[in-house]
Amino acid sequence: MKTIAEYSADIETALRSLKYPSGSLTSLYQPIEYALSAGGKRIRPVLTLMGAEAFGDDAPKALKAAIGIETFHNFTLLHDDVMDKSDMRRGRPTVHKKYDENTAILSGDTMLTLATKYVSEVEDDKLRKVLDTFNDMALRVYEGQRLDMDFEDAEHISLDSYLEMIEGKTGSLLGAAVKIGAIIGGASDKDAQLMYEYGVMTGLAFQIQDDWLDTFGDASTFGKPIGGDINNAKKTYLYVAAMSEGGQNVEALRSAYQIPSGDVRVKAVTRIYDKLGMNEKCRKAVGHYSAKALKALNSTSLSEEKKESFRKLAEKLIGRKK
Ligand code: IPE
Ligand code: IPE
Ligand code: MG
Ligand code: MG
Ligand code: MG
Repeated sequence: MKTIAEYSADIETALRSLKYPSGSLTSLYQPIEYALSAGGKRIRPVLTLMGAEAFGDDAPKALKAAIGIETFHNFTLLHDDVMDKSDMRRGRPTVHKKYDENTAILSGDTMLTLATKYVSEVEDDKLRKVLDTFNDMALRVYEGQRLDMDFEDAEHISLDSYLEMIEGKTGSLLGAAVKIGAIIGGASDKDAQLMYEYGVMTGLAFQIQDDWLDTFGDASTFGKPIGGDINNAKKTYLYVAAMSEGGQNVEALRSAYQIPSGDVRVKAVTRIYDKLGMNEKCRKAVGHYSAKALKALNSTSLSEEKKESFRKLAEKLIGRKK
């Protein structure tokens, strides 16, 4: 298998060579190029390539599907940034800030359809399974995003509800990314499902780390402003875990959230998280779900060497700062 950096370079090259219709509709396609050229981590398409290579020694066969997965991911980000009122991503203005909201909606829609087209470019005998996996995942993402917004108005969210929400919005996409690769590579149904589990669990760890970075990260490295989740009253892992401590913390958090959105609220909430050792709690939770990911991986029929590549990816994500 290649290294993660090599797979990721293959994705960059393929993204750069995508052709959009030229002419008068640059207002539709230019924002798509803007979003796809901003240099994300490309974790999901790398998972697709790795899945195909691991089970079929044939990553190039999965390249178009991988590009479809990355295009889908970026579509969700265009709409997510409207929903979350986020002005910056990957160190640049978000699409709705650089252009406008209607552009983010319509270029996002276009990316969803392009993504479906790209993902469909697989051999006929794989198409049914690949498309089913892709469409089931997309529905899970929308469900997760809906819960994420509904939870903004709720005060108490259980850990189980939180996990259901992030499994939908984030876990399902990492799971489907690697599963689609595995299907293209010719994995058995059992192995494809175990790889899905590996991806979902990695996704839970990934989202908890994202929640942590949104409060404790460094904006210039993270590429997104710090405190957005606190300002939007998002029910992050930090919030849910802090609330579950009970006692005075509940009252303290409740009053911190009475403060209008802005730096004062962000500082007040961050201070409570600090006091409760949320840093350590997040580290533990990330470790917990990564361990579950590795358990699923270990149950597959993959060789030790191939498993090692997926372990490396999970490890890299645990400590990520961006
Ligand atoms: C952002 O995903 C959305 C989340 C699920 C947290 P990434 O952190 O993978 O974003 P990019 O693509 O690397 O910018
Ligand atoms: C994003 O969750 C999940 C999807 C886009 C589906 P977040 O809202 O936490 O992602 P960021 O922090 O904006 O990247
Ligand atoms: Mg969001
Ligand atoms: Mg967001
Ligand atoms: Mg986030």
